[in-house]
Formats: sequence, structure tokens, C-alpha cells
Amino acid sequence: MAEIDTKSPSPPLPDGIIPEEAITRAENRWLAIMLGMLGVMIAVIVVTGVSNSLHPPSNVETIDPVTLHLGGEFAENNLGTAVDPDASVTVRLIAEQYAFVPDCTRIPVGAPVKFRLTSTDVIHGFLLPATNVNTMVVPGFIAEVRTTFSRPGVYNMPCNEFCGYGHHGMSARVEVVPSEQFPPQDAAERTSCAKQ
Ligand code: CUA
Repeated sequence: MAEIDTKSPSPPLPDGIIPEEAITRAENRWLAIMLGMLGVMIAVIVVTGVSNSLHPPSNVETIDPVTLHLGGEFAENNLGTAVDPDASVTVRLIAEQYAFVPDCTRIPVGAPVKFRLTSTDVIHGFLLPATNVNTMVVPGFIAEVRTTFSRPGVYNMPCNEFCGYGHHGMSARVEVVPSEQFPPQDAAERTSCAKQ
């Protein structure tokens, strides 16, 4: 199809007109390059998804942002770190203009951690650099992310979704501590390192 018929030369084209065969060749070349790039991008997504547990968050749970502070899961006394009976950890946080509540979370190293967040106002971002944690926090929905911290340290937790005038100052932190430093485990107790 893209072969040039050399036996019966076509009449000369006017100046500046490119032969159709040359255009077809160029189009096919670019199509092959695009398909190659697409293949590379899909491979990157699959490899990082499998090896680093980088998955698009897909939790769909709704909550009323107007009343969430009045009771239930996101009432003030239920925020922070809770140790579940199986020694895994659930951290509940609220994102609001322009802070996370609580603004410091303490987590034992090595424990499976489930973060549950929601917003009272606009869309915020929840990111822990150098981990698989990165999601949007959308009012009306509960964002849930699971991870495990393999080494102790302090992780900065910037809001990474533009949320208004004070966005640049909106950040919190996560302190990952050796599990023996973790306070005695009372299922009903919530802990944080936020300054009161
Ligand atoms: Cu909250 Cu940006």
C-alpha cells in the first residue's frame, strides 16, 4: 500500500506538494512511535502497580460533610490513631481549610495501616512522599488508603490539591515510631502527637 511504484513514474507534482506515499510512510512511522510510547506507559503502570502497590484509590463511601463532626466515625474523639484487635492500625483524619485534624499522627512501624479521611469543605490532597499514599480527599466521600511503614521516621504530609488561599501552608506529619514506643493498646483509645 505504501510501496512506491517505480515502473510507471507518476507525473511530476507541483512545487511544495508532497507525494501521498511519503505522507503515508510518515503517518505510519508516527503511529508506530505512538503505539510504542503507549506500550511503555502501560508497562510502567502495571509494573509500579504490582511492585509498589500503587493503585488508584477506589473507595466509594459517602458521608455528610455538614454533620460529620456531630457523631460517628469522624467525631472529634474518634480522630487519630486507633489500634485494632488484630494489631493493625486505623487512622482517621479530617481535612479542612487549612489544616488536617489532628495535624500529627503517630503510627507503629511495620503495622498494616488504614488511613480514612474526609473533608468538611473543599477537595484536599493527601500525600505521603516516598510511599504509595496519594489520594484526593473529596467532601461527601471517605478516602481510604492502606499502607505499611517499613522504617521509622517523620513523614511530611502536605496537602497536594489546591484548596484555596491557605493551601501552601496546609500540611501535617506522620511520625512512624518503633512499636514498643507505642502507647498501651486500648481498643477504645485514640492517640496522636498533635499539640493541644
Ligand atoms: Cu488543602 Cu490544599
